[in-house]
Amino acid sequence: MKPSISNHKLLALIKNDNVTILDVRGKDEFERGHIFGALHIPVDQILQRHHEIPEGKQIVTYCGKGAGRSENAAKILNENGKRAFWLEGGYQQWPFVSPSDATIRESLIFHQLFERESSSYTYLLADPATREAIIIDPVLETVERDLSLIQELDLKLLYILETHIHADHITGSAEIKKRTSAKSAVSKKAGVCCADLELTENQELKFGGYSLKVMETPGHTSESLSFYCEGMIFTGDSLMIRGTGRTDFQQGSANDLYESIHKKIFALPDDTKVYPAHDYKGALFSTIALERRFNPRVGDNKSQDEFVQLMKELKLAEPTKIHEAVPANLACGKTNSRMAKAPACT
Ligand SMILES: [Fe+2]
Repeated sequence: MKPSISNHKLLALIKNDNVTILDVRGKDEFERGHIFGALHIPVDQILQRHHEIPEGKQIVTYCGKGAGRSENAAKILNENGKRAFWLEGGYQQWPFVSPSDATIRESLIFHQLFERESSSYTYLLADPATREAIIIDPVLETVERDLSLIQELDLKLLYILETHIHADHITGSAEIKKRTSAKSAVSKKAGVCCADLELTENQELKFGGYSLKVMETPGHTSESLSFYCEGMIFTGDSLMIRGTGRTDFQQGSANDLYESIHKKIFALPDDTKVYPAHDYKGALFSTIALERRFNPRVGDNKSQDEFVQLMKELKLAEPTKIHEAVPANLACGKTNSRMAKAPACT
């Protein structure tokens, strides 16, 4: 019999309430984050403490990457009359952040897509039952890819959302809207009259059985939004992975950004996954707990004054596309010169 099991099998055991999950890593690793409901016994204490493990359920041990410590722990347990397996891929490969997330995320269609030139992420979320979908921050250059995926997955796109008026790339919103029946949506504060929906704090957008909630998080720009859905927050250029967006144009404010992050984003549960609009070093996502602890600009050990000073001293070059991108994005991504003049909102 194979002594290891996959994420998928562990999920089935969790659903059937037929498993004791045992984290055999060190105390620090466990405290930084662990699989929900896991019991903690470090591998070097298994022999002395295995009587603490409840009887009657299957035991699944896990460590950081799978095998190694978890395999040793399972071996010790099996030699002592228990029935234990170790988790392949370990904590690093475990994709769920909470029990509800595990049961829901298993079925939520979720794609993180990347655009190379501006290092932008686009996110596609959909209900697998109704096929209704939302796209966040599409980029003009990758519209064909996104539309192909939507078609392949047989999705009905309801909304095209912008986290903010981007300065480094042109949104794919207008092009996607032209070719689907989706509604475009930006913050009401952007004053973008061409958008179908003007988003405000706490507004909820439904897609099938799911709901995405709008959070106003000004600071990078005055109209910046974050979106919360099923244990994930899409932070745009507000909170980034071990960084933040800049605050030196488009009515940005370092004070506002610090408050948006500390009072709103960091108020979410520690295990909420953070998906930004960009990453320049190849990271895909983070968590609230990790950013509170390790974000060098805006983590828990940085005061508001320190953050404001730090942002003042950044002296970043202007994005190369700013004079093209901002007017186009104020016109929902329409790029010909006539349409790129954003109409005044009345
Ligand atoms: Fe931005």
